[in-house]
Amino acid sequence: MNTKDLLAQYRSEALLGGGKKRLEEQHKKGKLTARERIELLLDENSFEEFDMFARHRSKDFGLEKNRPLGDGVVTGCGRIHGRFVYVFSQDFTVFGGSLSEAHAEKIVKVMEMAMRNGAPIIGLNDSGGARIQEGVVSLGGYADIFLLNTLASGVVPQISAVLGPCAGGAVYSPAITDFVFMAEGTSYMFVTGPNVTKTVTHEDVTSEELGGADTHASKSGVAHFAMPNELECLNGIRKLVTYLPQNNKEKAPRTSVGDDPARVCDLLDNIIPDESNRPYDMRHVISEIVDRESFFEVHERFAPNILVGFARMDGETVGIVANQPLSMAGVLDIDSSTKGARFVRFCDAFNIPLIVFEDVPGFLPGTDQEWRGIIRHGAKLLYALAEATVPKVTVITRKAYGGAYDVMNSKHIRGDINYAWPTAEIAVMGPKGAVEIIFKKEIEEARVDGGDPAAIAREEELTNEYRERFANPFIAAERGYVDDVIEPKDTRLRLIRALKMLATKQDTNPWKKHGNIPL
Ligand code: HXC
Repeated sequence: MNTKDLLAQYRSEALLGGGKKRLEEQHKKGKLTARERIELLLDENSFEEFDMFARHRSKDFGLEKNRPLGDGVVTGCGRIHGRFVYVFSQDFTVFGGSLSEAHAEKIVKVMEMAMRNGAPIIGLNDSGGARIQEGVVSLGGYADIFLLNTLASGVVPQISAVLGPCAGGAVYSPAITDFVFMAEGTSYMFVTGPNVTKTVTHEDVTSEELGGADTHASKSGVAHFAMPNELECLNGIRKLVTYLPQNNKEKAPRTSVGDDPARVCDLLDNIIPDESNRPYDMRHVISEIVDRESFFEVHERFAPNILVGFARMDGETVGIVANQPLSMAGVLDIDSSTKGARFVRFCDAFNIPLIVFEDVPGFLPGTDQEWRGIIRHGAKLLYALAEATVPKVTVITRKAYGGAYDVMNSKHIRGDINYAWPTAEIAVMGPKGAVEIIFKKEIEEARVDGGDPAAIAREEELTNEYRERFANPFIAAERGYVDDVIEPKDTRLRLIRALKMLATKQDTNPWKKHGNIPL
């Protein structure tokens, strides 16, 4: 056969992956094939494939007789909304998408190209982990990928979709990347599956419970996005990329929807309830302020007491971090602190300005939180916001109490421009708690004189006095701890102005090899 015919034959062989039957099985499981996923992810006809003819070199367990072209992963470069991205897509029809030496080399090659050329890397994972027949060579391949994931972290955006049963080594590469997408009902991630779990811990658990999309989106926080199906995952990635710069030296592209930067947000003037303990939905505040329909929430099901996500202000990408009074009064706990910290660090690494909306009663008390390390984990959010040098703007909508006041991008940790609404309450602690401590003696004396009713009345009186005196923004404004007290309806205009003012901001941290964030 001449080489031209051979090329045609090889190409059609490679396109079939593990063969027609296995491709059909993939569809029967409700999954797309590796190539279909790439087609849906990328702009039409933009895919440039590499290493289609790569084969494994293994000779054990009869593998020398089964050497499929491409070796279970499709790699290359393409475009999303016209901008370059590098992609690998594992093919479950070839040895269960398992990772061999050659398979790893292909992934490493596109990762290196992404880094050299300053473009995002997107991994579509569908793999049974290390190729068992190859042994340590396969483990070496994983380690090569982990190293590159680590080196690429903060250099180019790294996005993973887990679109099948990913076990063993197959989960650690996605875990290092910036964002993990999963599809409900077909994606699983676990270090060891249900069988091993049963042997070791005697727990009876299904794959879905142990490592399905909802588990990782809501319980473990490993997945940032749990989508109803693969198509939504791929569309989600396409959307996410529009908010991101290509690399850490660039700015995210501007995308205007024509929303008036001076739009007055009347709805916000009445959004804060009269009673300080009544919840309201911070999502409404955010959507009212940012460019129309631009809020793209990240980690929606995990730690709902803090909201994080991307949005646009007058067309420019911003990262939003906001306490959510609708969930646990917006308190900071372990999960919300780590969620916020990781998002802040992503934005800082990729030149995305941060807007912090603050309504936080403090850190969550109790043995569960203390023993699991709320001090260490809460410090992550503090550290992340303190070290960030991108433009940082804060709006205190209501409560800013205690350590949480400091943490949520206060001026003291280099918040650039901090606004408060007239409804802001900025103090060491809430009025009731404060009065119980500082007026303990006085309340006891009232009890001695007139019993419990007198004590309760005195406590109420003192609480009201405290609230009037301290639960407002003006003491902080007097000191310059907030730059201005603004009308809620003007918040969009003021934030856009602030961001424009800060567009030329230059700030650096002292030279260091790297800091030591309290992990
Ligand atoms: C070689 C594998 C494979 C693997 C699956 N296959 N996993 N081949 N190495 N790791 C092959 C199967 O033999 C089968 O081949 C085909 O892929 C499809 O697999 P099935 O089992 O039929 O599919 P399914 O029932 O959907 O189950 C998928 C699965 C299961 C849950 C992924 O295959 C599985 O448990 N695989 C092993 C997972 C694992 O333990 N991996 C090693 C982890 S250790 P045929 O020819 O029959 O179609 C690891 C260490 C790295 O990764 C650590 C780094 C930190």
